[in-house]
Amino acid sequence: MKFSQFFTSWLHKNYYKNAVNIGRKGDFFTTVSVGELFGTLLAKHFLHLIDKAILTPPLQIVEIGANEAYLSRDFLKALLEFRPEIFQYLDFFIIEPHKKLRTLQKKTLLGVEFHHRKSLQECQFSNAFFFCNELFDSFSVELIDNGTMAFVEDFHLSFKPLEQNLKQRCESLELFKGELSIELENFFAQLDKACQKFVFASFDYGVLKPYDFSLRLYHQHQVFNFFEVSLQQFFGKSDLTYNVNFTHLLKLIEEYNFTLLHFQKQNTALIDFGFEELINQYFNNKKHYENLLSQAKILFFNFDEKFHFFEFAKL
Ligand SMILES: C[S@@+](CC[C@H](N)C(=O)[O-])C[C@H]1O[C@@H](n2cnc3c(N)ncnc32)[C@H](O)[C@@H]1O
Repeated sequence: MKFSQFFTSWLHKNYYKNAVNIGRKGDFFTTVSVGELFGTLLAKHFLHLIDKAILTPPLQIVEIGANEAYLSRDFLKALLEFRPEIFQYLDFFIIEPHKKLRTLQKKTLLGVEFHHRKSLQECQFSNAFFFCNELFDSFSVELIDNGTMAFVEDFHLSFKPLEQNLKQRCESLELFKGELSIELENFFAQLDKACQKFVFASFDYGVLKPYDFSLRLYHQHQVFNFFEVSLQQFFGKSDLTYNVNFTHLLKLIEEYNFTLLHFQKQNTALIDFGFEELINQYFNNKKHYENLLSQAKILFFNFDEKFHFFEFAKL
């Protein structure tokens, strides 16, 4: 089978389908598992977009790849604190293909009115605000190596000549060796079809000029090089991920005539979202102030420069 099929089977038909924990009890941390600060800053950013009339309510709010829905919970909690009156103009959705994760999400968001959808293909949004954290790095990829692509049989990799359509894609991206995600292209087509208007705010790690494979496994907070482990041993039991190709992402934004609103390092973006204003607000509440500061230290220093915020829109 093609490597992308193997990837989907590993990650989506097994690993995520079984509803994994993210954070201390799981295989890896994300900014969401650090605490509520991340979702709170995202809520501040969302309100700025409204104040600058880039977003105009009524709106559909949509999270994709929510896992336990902690980011949605923190985002909504902050909105309730900052601007409760906005809720009458919002309709909230989570796009989640996996049943077990839908159950976890309902538990986290107990008491919150929201709708589940299994995929973007069953959605029609007139005016949406999407947010997601580390979604694109879970999209299936082909492994490309100088005119060849990977196949997997009985957990063994082999490289055969590149299909013609992929060859053209690689040439246009100047990609000689690394991961190529056709799922990313399909996702853009679905997004365009599903929405009349949207702003899509997303955080992921990646590079602009990949020159080698970055595919790796996360298992109980240890990182393993994909090419150095027994695939049979780890199959479906560890997270499988890679650096997102930002050149591919930017090219798709251009091809679809979407508008790029932001593409910047995650740390800088979180400051721009209003970190200073937020922290000053709690200066007289020592416990909360210190708690936010310790989360900020982790957010700003433990997530390296590959972590980016990008935001694009169909206006
Ligand atoms: C790395 S996890 C993200 C975790 C979470 N956002 C966080 O930051 O802690 C990626 C998630 O995206 C989901 N996912 C991948 N492709 C998807 C798609 N097309 N639609 C909905 N969810 C998707 C996976 O099932 C998985 O739950």
